[in-house]
Amino acid sequence: MIRFLIMILIFYLLTGVSWAGGRGTFIQNCGTCHKTGGKALPVNPADKAAIVWEKYFKRHRHPVDLSSINPGDMKIIIKYLKDHAADSDQPEAAAIPK
Ligand code: HEC
Repeated sequence: MIRFLIMILIFYLLTGVSWAGGRGTFIQNCGTCHKTGGKALPVNPADKAAIVWEKYFKRHRHPVDLSSINPGDMKIIIKYLKDHAADSDQPEAAAIPK
């Protein structure tokens, strides 16, 4: 029984942390420009379908160079955007705080 509870706890921690990580990484990196009153308009995962997000960064469509964002972080951000895209189970408008 104890083992079972520990497994549930570990599962919860892992999934919980990866969710917070994706959103946090997005806000931290994209939010520097994309926030209310920032250089660029706010951006939400639910603005585009998953396939569009995938291609957007692969084809370097972003108007400003984002090569300063660590490639590992970029992967986490793209996964977060796709997981919460317009056509996902959980579309998300992640309001980026000021
Ligand atoms: C250095 C500032 C800066 C950073 C960092 C930045 N952007 Fe942008 N982004 C811009 C500017 C400037 C535009 C063009 C003007 C606008 O859309 O407001 C833009 C445009 C966009 C657009 C096009 C808007 C549209 O509706 O088609 C998307 C999508 C976008 N950015 C997503 C992101 C994501 C995701 C990140 C993080 C990985 C990010 N941006 C990081 C400055 C930035």
